This record gives sequence, C-alpha cells and structure tokens, in this order.
Amino acid sequence: MEPVLDWEARYQEPSVPWERTGLNPAFTAWQSWLSLQQGTVVIPGCGRSPELQGLAELGFSVVGVDLSPSAAQFQKTALSAKGLHGEVIVSNLFDWSPDTPVDIVYEQTCLCALHPEHWSAYESLLTGWLRPGGTLLALFMQTGETGGPPFHCEIAAMEQLFSQQRWIWDETSVRSEHPLGVYELGFRLTLR
Ligand SMILES: C[S@@+](CC[C@H](N)C(=O)[O-])C[C@H]1O[C@@H](n2cnc3c(N)ncnc32)[C@H](O)[C@@H]1O
Repeated sequence: MEPVLDWEARYQEPSVPWERTGLNPAFTAWQSWLSLQQGTVVIPGCGRSPELQGLAELGFSVVGVDLSPSAAQFQKTALSAKGLHGEVIVSNLFDWSPDTPVDIVYEQTCLCALHPEHWSAYESLLTGWLRPGGTLLALFMQTGETGGPPFHCEIAAMEQLFSQQRWIWDETSVRSEHPLGVYELGFRLTLR
C-alpha cells in the first residue's frame, strides 16, 4: 500500500511538526500500567519519537518499524547512546510482520498517517501482530478536520474499526494535547 507522503523528505525538513519535545503525556499516564508488563512491544511508524527508548528503558524488547531510513537510523543511534537494545526495521509496515505474535503494539499517530482507505487493512494487520490477550495502546489523532495527514480519527469510527467483536476497550481514555492545537485520545484495547 502506497504511503500518502514522502515521509523521508519530511524528516529532512528543518521542522517536523508532529514531533513533541518529550514523551507523549499518554505514555507517562500509562507508565504505571506498563511497568507491570513485560515482553515485546512493536511501534509501527515509530519515526524519531522517544517512546521507543522509553519502552526499552522499562525493560521491554522493542521493535520499531518505519519507512524512513533516517528516522530508523536516529532511533538506532538514540538506543545505543543510552546503552539500550532494540530492533529498528526500515519497511512499509504492510510488508512486515513479527516472527512471533507480540505482547503490545504502541500506536502513536501512525493510523492518522495512513489513508483511511487503508485503515481496515491496518486493523487486520495489528490483529495478526498481537497475541490473543495482547494490548494495543492507541493514540487516535483528533483534528476535527477533513483531509490529511494527519487524518482525523473520530472515536465512533474507531469503535467500528476496532470492533467489540475483536477488541475489548478500556473505559478510560487519556487526552494528550499537542502544541499544534490538535490532540490525541489514548485508549487501551485488548485483543480477544
Ligand atoms: C505522523 S508520523 C508519527 C511518528 C511517530 N510515531 C511520532 O509520534 O513522532 C507517522 C510516521 O509513520 C511513518 N509511516 C507512514 N506510513 C508508513 C508505512 N506505510 N509504513 C511504515 N511507516 C510509515 C512515517 O515515516 C512517520 O515516521
């Protein structure tokens, strides 16, 4: 499936608007739950975000997947500078899958970077990546606008996409403000 942007070119620009200066506030909110978990976490579309390192610091085996070679190299350098281990794969996420189903997928604004025509395939892909009972930590972008990326992830549409037949939704959500004036709603979903 074709990406909607030349993401590598975006990473060569002086400013990358979706990046925060630190960890996503939802990551911090989930940290006490995360510290009780173990195993492997995959971050699709990990970009250069610090949560890959944050999860490695919590003791997880981490795997980042991204189309952008420079973002992947950034992650490898950042992990090794902190003495952390992790795998960072340069690939279209639709062409990749883990050898063994994983415990957690951390989805931070990757869905909103995909064309909505590909969302259903993405949801199917994630159900194949996760083990039964595994967790999807999902940050759904809220722009309130049409078009994208980032594409608005209306929660009612997310409830249809990640349907109750396959996913158990945690009742609480976390709201992460972004300096650009948009925000993400974070949900914890368990694969049945
Ligand atoms: C909006 S950025 C978010 C990056 C990161 N998760 C963060 O929070 O900073 C979307 C990321 O998804 C990657 N991406 C987009 N489409 C992809 C695809 N089909 N396969 C792999 N990575 C993709 C881009 O290269 C980019 O790094």
